[in-house]
Amino acid sequence: MNREDFPMLSNDIIYFDNGATTLKPKCVVDKMNQYYFNHTSNIHRGDYDAAIQTNILYDNVRNIIADFVHADADCCIYTSGATMSLNMVVFGYMKKHLKAGDVVLLNKAEHASNILPWIRLQEEIGIDIQYVPLNDDYSLTLDNIKKCVTDRTKVISLAHVTNVIGDVRDVQSIGKFCHENHILFNVDGAQSVPHMMVDFKESYMDFLSFSGHKMCGPTGIGVLIGRKELLEEMDPLFYGGGMNSFFEEDSSYELKDIPVRFEAGTPPIAEVIGLGEAIRYLTNIGMENIHQHEIELKKYLLKRLDEIPNIIIYNKDSKSGILAFNLDNVFAQDSSVYLNHYHIAVRAGNHCAKMLKDEIHIKNTVRVSMYFYNDFSDIDRLIDALRNSEDVFKIVL
Ligand code: ALA
Repeated sequence: MNREDFPMLSNDIIYFDNGATTLKPKCVVDKMNQYYFNHTSNIHRGDYDAAIQTNILYDNVRNIIADFVHADADCCIYTSGATMSLNMVVFGYMKKHLKAGDVVLLNKAEHASNILPWIRLQEEIGIDIQYVPLNDDYSLTLDNIKKCVTDRTKVISLAHVTNVIGDVRDVQSIGKFCHENHILFNVDGAQSVPHMMVDFKESYMDFLSFSGHKMCGPTGIGVLIGRKELLEEMDPLFYGGGMNSFFEEDSSYELKDIPVRFEAGTPPIAEVIGLGEAIRYLTNIGMENIHQHEIELKKYLLKRLDEIPNIIIYNKDSKSGILAFNLDNVFAQDSSVYLNHYHIAVRAGNHCAKMLKDEIHIKNTVRVSMYFYNDFSDIDRLIDALRNSEDVFKIVL
């Protein structure tokens, strides 16, 4: 779909590393260039035409985000990416509201950004981190979660879609359960918001984090969405210009309202505008169309992989465009170097999900992560390369 919108695809590359970052359509880069070339200016500070034009574009992106994931615009905070958003939740809100012994439920398929901040908070205030066991196919369901919940459970924090197994968690049921049991529900949407319809309100999310660069937008911009009453109680991690109403010699000060209270300093203006354009672009294609296309690609990939005898697949059943595998007796990174020889870009390693090895019993995998601009011929090229994979060591060594 829409391959002609992506200049990079006119090079000889099969891009299967969309879980790491996505390609950028020309319209996103053009929109950012328009800002840089025609109306560069800071936001909320200038009274001249260029500044007014920038303000309008910049402020409107909050409405675009809110419509996209069904949230309130004043609850959408611009951040540098999902990592910053998750850190804001942990150190801006949870640090203030949790106490020693409160249980936070995680699981071992999570990305570093949804585990390490919690480990740091454990060191700081003594929360109790517990890991919900995964099913045999490494999925996580409400049933697994329910078995771990006690009176001490205060937070469930999970990825909507995990970045290696690619399983889609039923956030609607889990969110409803959290809501009914007064448990905070923190969702890492980095691998879901770019690929499927996500509904912040309908899924009873308390916090949702995601990144622009994984959804056709620029790097350096992400979003944190929170429920209003929680954001009102969250502390900013950064203090400075743009987020205060006044500060005086006697050290009195007042912060502005949410969301700008959380956006100290000059924000990534071009990136915000680029993200707005990326969301407009994805919306025109349709998130359901994107999701369905990825499911079709995954089905075709699995069917064709039957032709490769020496392959171990870790996530046949997950309903996303992510596939994790290894060639028998081949180190994952050797496989990715080998595939690069055929101009096929995949990611190999632990993918920042460093505890997943406890569940899948292997440290490194090769990950194919697809997006709407991948097509069946990309998969055919991958299969052709894998068919020759007895040559791996000739090429890699
Ligand atoms: N979180 C990104 C990935 O999974 C970088 O590759």
